[in-house]
Formats: sequence, C-alpha cells, structure tokens
Amino acid sequence: MFLSIQTGYVDNFLSEKSLSPTISLMEAHKSLQNKTCKGADYLGWINLPEEMTDEKIAEIQSHADNLREKSDVLIVCGIGGSYLWARAILEAFSDPYGSDNCEVVFLGNHLSGREYDRIFSKYAHKRVSACVISKSGTTMETAISYRLVRAFLLSRYSEEEVKTRIVTITDEKNGALRKETDKQGYTSYVLPADVGGRYSVLTPVGLLPCAFAGVDIQKLVEGARKARTDILSDAWHPAFIYAEKRVALEETGFVSELFITSEPSLYFLGEWWKQLMGESHGKEWKGLYPDTLSYTTDLHSLGQYVQEGRRLFFETMLWVRDSYSQIKIPAMSDMTDGLDSLVARDLHDINLIALESTAKAHNDGWCPSMIITLDNLYPETMGYFLYTMMYACALSGIMIGVNPFDQPGVEAYKNEMRKRLAWKEVV
Ligand code: PA5
Repeated sequence: MFLSIQTGYVDNFLSEKSLSPTISLMEAHKSLQNKTCKGADYLGWINLPEEMTDEKIAEIQSHADNLREKSDVLIVCGIGGSYLWARAILEAFSDPYGSDNCEVVFLGNHLSGREYDRIFSKYAHKRVSACVISKSGTTMETAISYRLVRAFLLSRYSEEEVKTRIVTITDEKNGALRKETDKQGYTSYVLPADVGGRYSVLTPVGLLPCAFAGVDIQKLVEGARKARTDILSDAWHPAFIYAEKRVALEETGFVSELFITSEPSLYFLGEWWKQLMGESHGKEWKGLYPDTLSYTTDLHSLGQYVQEGRRLFFETMLWVRDSYSQIKIPAMSDMTDGLDSLVARDLHDINLIALESTAKAHNDGWCPSMIITLDNLYPETMGYFLYTMMYACALSGIMIGVNPFDQPGVEAYKNEMRKRLAWKEVV
C-alpha cells in the first residue's frame, strides 16, 4: 500500500448514532460495484484504471511526445474537473522532478483579462500548443479561452499549422467544442459519456498534460490500478476508513472538513480535493463544507480560529513520509536564538512534529483530526492516492444520500450569465 490513515483523534467525538448512517459503508460499496447507487449512469470512472490499457497510455504518451517536439509550452484550457488534477500533480512534482523545458500553463479557469495578457506576453516568443478540455463542450470560461488562445496562435502561425497545434478532449457527439473540432479537423480524444468531469482524471484529461510535462503516466495509472485491486480485496482499506469517519463526523454535527497540507507545492492538491468533495457532496442542503489550509503557514492566520473559534470543523491532514530535501538545522556558535537543541535535525522531521503537535492541540480544543500519510510523491503513489480519494468521495456521498456524480447547482450562475450576455449555448 502507498498510503495509510490514522484516526486516533476522531473516535472520542463520535456517538453510536453517528456511526450508523442511513446507508451503511458496505451497502454504499456494493451499490457502487453493482451500479445501483444514485448517479449510476456516471460510474465509468470505476473501471478506468483497467480500461486505460498500456496501449492507450502509450498512444497518449506518443502524442504528447509529438507536441513536445514542436512546443515549449502547452496551454491547457479547462476549468474545474477539466484541469485541477493535472495542475495539482504538476505543481507537486515540479520541485523534485525539476522537469525539462516543456512547460504546462493553465488558462480557461478564470475570466481575468490581466492574466491572459500576462501569459500571452510571457510566451510571445516561445513555441506554443494548446489542449482544450471540456466534457460538455459548452462551458463559457473554456470557450472564451479557446477563442483567445486560437487567436493568439493565429497571430503566430498559419491556419494549417494552428490546426496541428490544438488538441481537444470532449464529448463524442455533443457541444460546441465537438462541432468546432470536427470542422477544424483537430486531433481529439473522446471523453466517455459515463465519466463526469472531476472523475475523468485517468483519461487524456489528466494524462495528456502530465505526459507533456514529462510525468510517468504509466506509473500514475499503475498506482490507480493497485488502489482499485486493494479496495476490492480489503474491507479495511483507507478509502473505507476515511469515508466512514468523515460521514460519522458530519452526522455528529461537524459542518466543515479542512484538508491540511504541509508542503507549499501541494497547495493545488488541496484545491483538487476541495473541488472533488465540494461538487460531489454539496447538494440537497447536505455535505461537509470542504476547505484547505497549508500548515504551518496558516497556523499564523487561521490557526487561532481553528483552535478557539466556533466549533465547526475537523481536519484531514496529509503528510508525505519521504522528504526530498536534506535540509538540516546548522550549528552556529555565535547564535543566541535558543535553537541549539535542533542542531543537525532534519527540517522535515520538525515539520512532522509541528503537524502532530497541531493535531493534539486542536483535538484538545475540540477539533478532531485524521492523518493520511503518503509514502512519497512518486507518480505511482499519486495514482494510488487519486483513486483512493475518488472512491472515498463516492462512498461518503452515497452514504449521506446524495448523487456524488452530478453538479446541478453549478447551472444557476451560468443561466443568469447567459441571460445577461445573450450567449446562446450550442448543445
Ligand atoms: O467536475 C465537474 O464535473 C466540473 O467541475 C466540470 O469539470 C467543470 O464544470 C467543467 O465542465 P466541462 O468539462 O463540461 O467544461
């Protein structure tokens, strides 16, 4: 196994009642496997680790290699589930992997003209290609992004050349992006109809940008395959424990889960987790409000609130056992800072002591916590973590009685915006 979970700071907070949800853990698991749960039309992701065969992975890798030969930068246009995992992985890997010259830039996840200006000027003299990702093919941010990026490419290359520099990932038949893809003749990947945006990471959505940046996508998928096998054979897998505890805490009355990272490069992993949990569970006036904090940084901003403010939340802390750094506290005879007892100690060990001390202090202040420990940040471990979290998210969503695979509430702002901009959606 590539990860483990400690829940020692949770059980004191739970009652008999909170441990008996309406839909039990094992019923939820069975309903996922038998495809009888709410949202059963969107369970294509469950078997993706196996369905993404070595041949398909090699094909994506070879396409990414072709793009790498002619580009320094890949602009990824996409929002929500269409970009967050790839961004999380690339940020997590950027330090230890130090990658080569192939850079991935994410646009389409906002409507900031200033940011477009910044990116277009920054890459004005680099060789650029683009990957446009939209399951529905109708998302406004992505559609605007595609237009702007296409215009940027047309200002640099011939129309024919631009056609070879844009790749799309979208539905097989529906949406404006599919129509545009067919018209322009772009290379394109089809997103399976039964896989929703945030569960589509093990398709080209998550794999192509990673392959372009030099991440070993074969290992990523292998990690997910191992997680799937372990989940099917081990009723004590961390996916089950995590799902059960978070539902029990919600039933106890906690309204928010804080996902804590202790490495600045894992900030986007938190953003990915937040989107996965928030869109999957926040419906029918249910669901834990998911938020992320980075320790020890945020101990000096929200730490006070977590310790002594309103009692709303519990923490899920992510720890990475293998540090890539060799940073130790140096000896200095002329210093009077009181740190001599720390001399020669690894900074990573001190970071862990800070995390464990925080868990204890917050527990004493009525904020329970769990710690998920990853062995390292290698692609296989990250693939394992990804599948484990998606499975735990689906399980806990089913246990609280919602459909974890749709996001009807996102339409409300879109409808209002469509009216104000007289924007006609092409389906
Ligand atoms: O997870 C989801 O389903 C969403 O976050 C979508 O990925 C996001 O809204 C973008 O949608 P689309 O891929 O259809 O452009």
